[in-house]
Amino acid sequence: MSSPQTNSRFKGRFITFEGGEGVGKSTNIGFAKDWLEAHGKTVVVTREPGGTPIAEKIRNDLLKAHHEEPMADLTELLLVFAARAQHIESVIRPALERGDWVLCDRFTDSTIAYQGYGRGLPLEQIDALRKLVQQHVSPDCTLLLDAPLTVGMGRASRRAAENNEQTDRFESEDLAFFEKVREGFLALAACEPRFTLIDASQPLEVVQQAVEQQLREMIGVQS
Ligand code: TYD
Repeated sequence: MSSPQTNSRFKGRFITFEGGEGVGKSTNIGFAKDWLEAHGKTVVVTREPGGTPIAEKIRNDLLKAHHEEPMADLTELLLVFAARAQHIESVIRPALERGDWVLCDRFTDSTIAYQGYGRGLPLEQIDALRKLVQQHVSPDCTLLLDAPLTVGMGRASRRAAENNEQTDRFESEDLAFFEKVREGFLALAACEPRFTLIDASQPLEVVQQAVEQQLREMIGVQS
C-alpha cells in the first residue's frame, strides 16, 4: 500500500475534488462523506468559490453571467483568492484543527487550471497568491475526476436544462477554453504526488471504487 501524504500540522485531513464541468464531483463527494462517516470520521463538506457567507457573495459576482462591464482576468483571480482566504480562515483551518475531515469541491488547482491555463494568467503569480493565502493549509490528497469534454459538458448541459439553470460566466466559455483547463488539471496530476487521477467517464460504481480505494489508504483500512 502506498503511504499517503499527510498534512502533519493538523489533526484533520483535507481532501479536494477537482475536474472540469459535469465530471460528477458532487455525487462523489456525497459518496466519500457517507463512506467516511460510516468509518467514524466527522466530515465537513464545502465548496469553492464559496463555503462561507462572505465567500458565497464573492461567488455570486464571479459566476454572474452579465455584469455592467467585463470582469478583468486579474480581478477574477483576486476574487477567487479573496473568497479562499475567507473560506480557509472561517471554515477549513478550524475544521482541520478540530480533527475533522474536510471534503472540498474545488480548491487552488481549479485556479491554476481555469485562471492559469484557461485565462492564461502567469502561473508564478498564482503561486505567489497561493503561498500568501494558504500558508500551511494544503490538500493531503486531491481526487481529479477527468473525462473528455464531450462527456463532462454533455452531462453539465443536461443537468442545467433539467434544473432550469442559467449558464454561468464560466460555462459560457468556448471548447478551446475547457480544453486548456483540462490540460492544466492533467499537467498538475502528472507532477504532484498528492493527486489521484480517476477516469470519470467510467460507470459510477467503478469511479466510486477508485474513490473508496483512496479513502481506505488514507484511513489505513484494508479492503
Ligand atoms: P462549480 O460550482 O464547481 O461548477 P461546476 O459544478 O459547473 O463544476 O464551480 C464554479 C465555477 O468556478 C467553475 O466553472 C470553475 C470556476 N472556478 C474558477 O474558475 N477558479 C477557481 O479557483 C474555482 C475554485 C472555481
